[in-house]
Formats: sequence, structure tokens, C-alpha cells
Amino acid sequence: MFCKPDLCLIIGLIVFVFDLTWSQLIRPVYVYEGLIKSIRDYFNNTCIVFLHSNSNLIETQGLMENEHLLTLQRYLSMTHHIRTTFMDFHMFSTRIGQSYFHIKRPLFILLNDYEDTRDGFAHQIATWIAMAYPTWVIFFNNETKFEDFFFEIYIPFDCKFMVVQSSPNVIGREIITEVYQVNKGRELRSSQFGIWDVRNGLKGPKHGLFLRRNNLFGQNIRVTSIQDPPISLFHRNERNEITKISGFFGEVILLLQEALNCTFTYKEAKSWGMCLPNGSCTGAIGMLMNNDVDFAATEFMMTSDRLDAISFTTPIYTTKCRAYIKKPASSDVKWDAYTAPFSTNIWRAIAFFIVLTSGTIVLIQRLFAVTSPYLRNDNRLRFTEILFFVTGAFCNQGMKQSILDPVRIVHFIIHLSAVVIVAAYSAALISFLTVKTFIMPFTTMDGLLKDKTYRFGVIGDSADFSFFQNTSDKIMNVLFDKLLRKETDLPSNYLDGLERVCKDDKYAFMTLDNMATLLQQKVDCKLEPLDVITQTTIAMALQPNSPYRGIINANILLLRDNGILQRLLETQWSVQLSGGSEKSSWKSVEIGDIVPLLLFIIAAVFISCLICVMERVIFMSLFNRKKRISRVN
Ligand SMILES: *[C@@H]1O[C@H](CO)[C@@H](O)[C@H](O)[C@H]1NC(C)=O
Ligand SMILES: *[C@@H]1O[C@H](CO)[C@@H](O)[C@H](O)[C@H]1NC(C)=O
Ligand SMILES: *[C@@H]1O[C@H](CO)[C@@H](O)[C@H](O)[C@H]1NC(C)=O
Ligand SMILES: *[C@@H]1O[C@H](CO)[C@@H](O)[C@H](O)[C@H]1NC(C)=O
Repeated sequence: MFCKPDLCLIIGLIVFVFDLTWSQLIRPVYVYEGLIKSIRDYFNNTCIVFLHSNSNLIETQGLMENEHLLTLQRYLSMTHHIRTTFMDFHMFSTRIGQSYFHIKRPLFILLNDYEDTRDGFAHQIATWIAMAYPTWVIFFNNETKFEDFFFEIYIPFDCKFMVVQSSPNVIGREIITEVYQVNKGRELRSSQFGIWDVRNGLKGPKHGLFLRRNNLFGQNIRVTSIQDPPISLFHRNERNEITKISGFFGEVILLLQEALNCTFTYKEAKSWGMCLPNGSCTGAIGMLMNNDVDFAATEFMMTSDRLDAISFTTPIYTTKCRAYIKKPASSDVKWDAYTAPFSTNIWRAIAFFIVLTSGTIVLIQRLFAVTSPYLRNDNRLRFTEILFFVTGAFCNQGMKQSILDPVRIVHFIIHLSAVVIVAAYSAALISFLTVKTFIMPFTTMDGLLKDKTYRFGVIGDSADFSFFQNTSDKIMNVLFDKLLRKETDLPSNYLDGLERVCKDDKYAFMTLDNMATLLQQKVDCKLEPLDVITQTTIAMALQPNSPYRGIINANILLLRDNGILQRLLETQWSVQLSGGSEKSSWKSVEIGDIVPLLLFIIAAVFISCLICVMERVIFMSLFNRKKRISRVN
């Protein structure tokens, strides 16, 4: 339930009777009316809550005063249809309490700066409410000092708290000042928000909130990160304190530091972390939750279950999430490598051509045999012999010269076609042999599961792990139960995981696409991706309700808009790439590629030996029979 604007109406019904004392108002009613309306229009608030200190009563309330307040409420709710309610501090904290979160963009008004208003606000409201959630307006007398009123009240950095004072010089003009603190205990800072007068209305600020408040004045921010080379890497001094983070995230936070004028202290987290069912969280998430650090500068997948524990910055980049396996080392024997260059129909056409030309030669010989007695006996070849020679011609062999011109012409045509065909065949064969094709054992997670020989790992104690733990996808569920649960020692970062992929032949590891591309250069095997599991968005993480979220987001957006983030992604990513890509891309033909050919030769030798032996045996037996017959004779 994100919005429940009607709560405001309900509050209104609870306290439909005014119970305010005299002199709640310290300005003429028209000032309240106009100024509150202008502020509301500026911030687009859906509901206005007047907080006051007086829980009793009609008796203490002057008639005039009552009328003024009624006018004010009528003006806002009847004339402008803004839900408006009056409520005292005690009632607000007991009746509404934490459910104020259901009011969308509320505007809280304190009508005066009296002692009891201050006390009620400081002790009954400011102690528990998330100050930055509503917009605040308070009306001050000119004598009241900010320091006195806000003594021990913490106005967070991202809180919109406006103080209205009358201008000492111009009558009827109200000066609106916004106040905030960089952190608890730091000095109260104030700057002019705008001015209001009845004729011109509100003249608000020119810039947005975080352009006005763009300075943390040296505030120390505790940063955590994870040793995850190469995108976040710690540098330590001799006392083993972390002095700096380098890599992509290191560069980003250095830019942020410059823009925010803050300082960083660093703390190492062992893992990204996740939340256990009993509500305690581990790793960097746990550190954020337990207020050990303010900011985690490393890549966090934006997942909904993490939102309960931490808040995210604006997205830094998006990438895909999938499993990688080691490229199968040996490519399989390509049985069809020597026939594949030509399609079956071309082979058929060649065979037909050979038969046709052989037939033509035989035919010509027959025709000439009638006329030319010279050809009658020795020089005539049989069809099978001619077939053999023509086939030889296609294997770059010569043919016996014929004395007949027509046959020579046919020979010429055969040679010409053979040259063209052999050249084309050789070219195609070469490219076919050098381009390595290998067969992936599987390409999907389903295949991985069915293969049964592979192990599967993700980074332990991370979003990757809880993704599998909590998924509703059936395959992922089985994968988690059958494979992931068995892994007792999960990798602690992406490099570690991918090194394991290279070390073990049958290890699949889930990682982000851009990390895999980056780390491919650092590991000594070729990684092969499986199909994409999910698209994911990467951001950095902050404490829940961190006051610095707005200013950090504004600066990240600024970095993105002026292209620095993109450039950083490119340089950090590609510096690494050029380092490793020196390796030669030469590929030599391996013995496996000519296995079919070798087998063919061996078979041919074997068969010809066999035939030779058979011929010998038959010849011998014939010879012996002849001998016997001649002896008998
Ligand atoms: C309020 O709404 C107006 C118009 O819808 C818009 O231009 C303005 O930016 C909004 N102001 C804030 C603070 O959201
Ligand atoms: C940054 O913060 C320091 C410490 O408060 C302050 O002295 C300095 O003026 C600030 N720098 C800028 C540019 O505002
Ligand atoms: C939650 O459970 C873990 C182990 O399962 C334990 O270490 C931790 O102390 C528990 N936290 C709380 C708050 O109970
Ligand atoms: C994840 O699983 C835990 C325990 O199995 C459950 O309490 C929690 O609600 C789940 N979260 C999501 C987002 O499904």
C-alpha cells in the first residue's frame, strides 16, 4: 500500500471540532492562507496537517480565533479542495503514529513558535518521525533565533523544512528560509528559499533541492566495498588501513567525493550479503543495516527483497546475468569436413559430369572405330578405364593423350572444369578446416541440470544466491536444490568463480555479462556463455532512509548526463581488455582435422592389399589347375 490519501480525510473526521486556544495565529489569516497555498502548489502536497500543542479545549478558545482558524480551513479545503486537518501533537503520535507513511506528500504546518509548540514538536514528534518524509513549514516571530528553536532537533540533510519570518524592511513580505543539518550534531545551516507577498505570491528558488544543497562540508562518510578485482580493489597503507579504492567504483566515488565535498573512511566487507529469515543480514548489507557504514560502493543487483534492508542509488548500468562454462577443449572430429564444402547436389552434378564425359568419349571412339581401322584394337579403351582416367583428371592427374581431335576437345573440357572445381573445393575446404566449430554440451540451465556431470556455483552470500533461493522458476528451484545446495565452498567474488570454471573442467558459474567480458582477460581459458537467465540493474547501496541518497543520486545523474559515467565504464572496462588481447589469434590445423583423411588412406591401403592378396590366391589356384590339366594331358 503506497498511497492512501484518504487517511487525511479520516484524520479530519476524527478531529472535526476545533480545539485550539487563543492566539495560535501570529500573522493575519490572509498571510497563512496565501503562503500555505503557494507552498503547497510548489511541492504538490496532497494533504495539509496543522500540528499544534493544545489538546484542550473549547473553553480556552477565543471566539475570534476560532473563526480565523475556521476561515483558514475553509479556504484550503472548500475553495481549493486540499485536504486539511488540525491535530495536536499528542493525538498525532497516538492516533496516526507510523501510518503517516500512508499519506502521500504531506505538508505539515506549525502555526507559531511558542514554547509549548516547540516542546511538543521536539519531544512528541521529532523523536520518532522520519523528518524528511513530509514537507514542513513553521511561522516564526522575528525575535526567535533558529539556534534556540532547533536546539536538539535534528533536521536531516534531505529534509524540506521552511521557516517563515516577516521581512523587517518591507511590510507584508514574508521571507522563507530553509534549514538543515549535514549530520546529527553538526551546525544548523540555513539559506533563503524564497519570498512571499500577497501581491506577487511565492517567488521560489531557481534551482532544485540538491543544486541548492550541494555541499556536505567535509562530512565523513563511511564507505564499504568488496575486494572484487578489477572493478573494486583496496589499497592499504603500512598500518593495513584502507586508504583508497580503485577500479570503476573507486573512480565513481572519488568523483562523488569531489562533488559533495565530503571525506571517506573505508571498511572492507567480506561479501555482498543477504538477509536471513530471522531478519539479520550478513555482509555489506548487514553493515549498512547495523549502521556500521553509510554507503556501499560496489555493484549491487537491484532486487526487491533487498529493498527491505537497504536503499539503492540510481542505477549505474544494466547487464545480463547468466552462467558461463569453460569452452570444451578439443573440438570433435569433423567427419563431414571433406564433403561439406560442396552440397550434395554439386557432388551429384560432378559425378554425372564424369559419367557423361566418359560416355561421350566411349561414344566418339565407337563412331570412329567404324571409319578408322587404326583404332580398332589397342587404342580403344573400355568405359570403366575411361571413367577412371576422368576421375583422375578431377584429382589433378593427367590423362593419356588421344589421337582423335573430338576426344581431345572433350579432354580439354574435362581439364578446364576440373581446374575450376578443384580450386573452389580447396578454398572451401581450407576455410572449413581452419574455422573451429565445437559443440556446446548444452546451452540452457535446463541442459546443465540434465547433463548431471557439471557442478554449479554462484557467489556465496549474495543476491545471486538469494535469487536462486527464492526463485519461483521451477528449473532454477531444482538447480538450487540439486546442485547449488551441495556446494559448500562458494566463490567470494567473480574472479574467484571464473578461475574455478577454468580449473575444474565441469564447473558452471553464474556471473554478469560485463564482468565476464572483463575477467576473460584475467583467466586462462576461454569462457562460453549459456543462455541469459535474467536482465539485471546494478546500483550502489545506502542505508535505508539515508539522508544522502538524494544528493548522491543527483550527482550520479549529473555524471551520467555529462557522459563521465559512460566514459568511465568504457575506460575501466577497455583498459583491461587491451592488456590481454595480445595473444595470437592464429589457429593451426590439428591432427583431429585430418583424421577422416588418414582413415580413408588406411582403409584404401588395407582394401588394396586385400584385393592384391585375393588376386594372387585366385591366380595361383588357376595356375596350378592349368599345370595339372597340362600334366594330365
Ligand atoms: C508539481 O507539479 C507541477 C505540475 O504538475 C510540476 O511542474 C512541478 O515540478 C511539481 N513540483 C514538484 C516539487 O514535484
Ligand atoms: C568543503 O568543506 C570544508 C570543510 O567544512 C570547507 O572548509 C570548504 O569551504 C568546503 N569547500 C567548498 C568548495 O565548499
Ligand atoms: C539469525 O540466524 C543466524 C544463523 O542462522 C544467527 O547467526 C543470527 O545470530 C540470528 N540473528 C538473530 C537476530 O536472531
Ligand atoms: C524469500 O524466501 C524467504 C524464506 O524462504 C521468505 O521469507 C521471503 O518472503 C522470500 N522473499 C521473496 C521476495 O519471495
